[in-house]
Amino acid sequence: MANERGSWGSNIGFLLAAIGSAVGLGNIWGFPYKMGKSGGFTFLLIYLLLAVFVGFVIMMGELAMGRKTGKGTVGAYHALSKKFKWVGWLAVFSPFVIMSFYSVLGGYCIEYMALNLSNLAFAGAEIKTGSDLFGAMLTNPFGCVAFTLLFLIICYLINRGGVSGGIEKFNKVGMPALFVMLVIIIIRSLTLPGAMEGLKFMFVPGYAVKAGFIAAEPNFATVLATAGGQMFFSLSLAMGVMITYGSYLDKKEDLVKNSAVIVVADTVVATMAGIAVIPAAVANGIQNGIPLNEIKLGGPSLLFVTLQDVFQAMGTIGPLFGVIFYLLVLIAAISSAISLVEVVATFFMDRAAAKGQEGNRHRIVLLVCLAIMVEAALVAVDGLGSNGIWVPGQATFGIHGWNDCWLDFMDMMSEGIAMPLGALLMSIMVGWEIKPKTLLDEIHSGASSKIDGFFAFCIKFIVPLGMVLILLGQINDFFGLGIFG
Ligand code: PFF
Repeated sequence: MANERGSWGSNIGFLLAAIGSAVGLGNIWGFPYKMGKSGGFTFLLIYLLLAVFVGFVIMMGELAMGRKTGKGTVGAYHALSKKFKWVGWLAVFSPFVIMSFYSVLGGYCIEYMALNLSNLAFAGAEIKTGSDLFGAMLTNPFGCVAFTLLFLIICYLINRGGVSGGIEKFNKVGMPALFVMLVIIIIRSLTLPGAMEGLKFMFVPGYAVKAGFIAAEPNFATVLATAGGQMFFSLSLAMGVMITYGSYLDKKEDLVKNSAVIVVADTVVATMAGIAVIPAAVANGIQNGIPLNEIKLGGPSLLFVTLQDVFQAMGTIGPLFGVIFYLLVLIAAISSAISLVEVVATFFMDRAAAKGQEGNRHRIVLLVCLAIMVEAALVAVDGLGSNGIWVPGQATFGIHGWNDCWLDFMDMMSEGIAMPLGALLMSIMVGWEIKPKTLLDEIHSGASSKIDGFFAFCIKFIVPLGMVLILLGQINDFFGLGIFG
């Protein structure tokens, strides 16, 4: 496809970039932990059902929206519907908000990689525990801001190269490398004594409660909302990413097959990431006599406290595994972050084109990254609430759903509300206003029509219903409303 907007160099390049966007921090700390806490297989089953009937359908729809209009998020909604044209703005706003914390977490990964490198180089020097290191890092705002800036400079350098010259090139090397590193960590993790307990936590129904990891299993509605929220975040849906990436895709490519590959690859990597981190964390906890319910298996503490302790307990070889692991997480974070930056950058590029000007990609990407740096500085300085910065949360509004820190607040606005709301509106627009056929015509340019009935039924009925349930569950979760008991 040769137009002045640019395009992917190949279908595999597009696929690796889309998988790169999907595979991120959400896979590594979100999926395994939520799976274990929500009844192992029950969660996996609900997740898979949602991935097929909701995730796969929205993925196809978004790719088709982008390719049909040849425009980024705002342009695509504008071109497709008068009533829903404002939804595009939601999907530019959300990636911008997600980047406020995603880049800070990416900065933490760089810091931990450097730390393990220095432990490797200066073997024998005094080594601090994961929790001491994490505490020291969070209470050093200058360090956090500096590493966040470094992370954003990396994103800038990739994004300014464009979709094929930057994003595709990075993912073509990064994704295979990530996979190899993941396999190395899985082998190390599963050969630690006690690792089986961690596997059982993830996969055996009811084991998390029986063994004492958690007091009680969450109810069905909560599991549904948790799995749904996770599925959206993990597949990078309702954030404009797939619309944007689809807009650079050739008409002859098969959107059905591509969507299926992205969904399957993301789910496989999430499961593999779980097998890499949970058994290691549990094995190390058991060896150190930590009660199972006190082992931190999710969120930032899993990555930066529990796993750092695991690497340090491995002796002289530990820092090497540490470097490999944090590099893996860093690559996953970068490949997701550049997709978020691209949504915003493409919006400005398209806007310039609409005015008959040629957008200067270098300048646009630089300004986008600078704007992200401003909001990210707030999250970095806040240090997950360690530094006493004011947060619009519990103390201010008497709401009890999220911890008083800027990261959780930003997460609540984007992942919690904007994502399911965006998907709900998208499905109503496609299912009931412009009608599924509009997108099916686009899908047929590269794929057979066997999917028509399934797509139309899901986008009209299943997706909106699922979205309302997920949205209610998220609001309940974040605001602690107790709707589901
Ligand atoms: N999918 C990424 C993850 O699992 O960490 C995060 C993400 C990237 C969410 C891009 C949304 C998005 F548009």
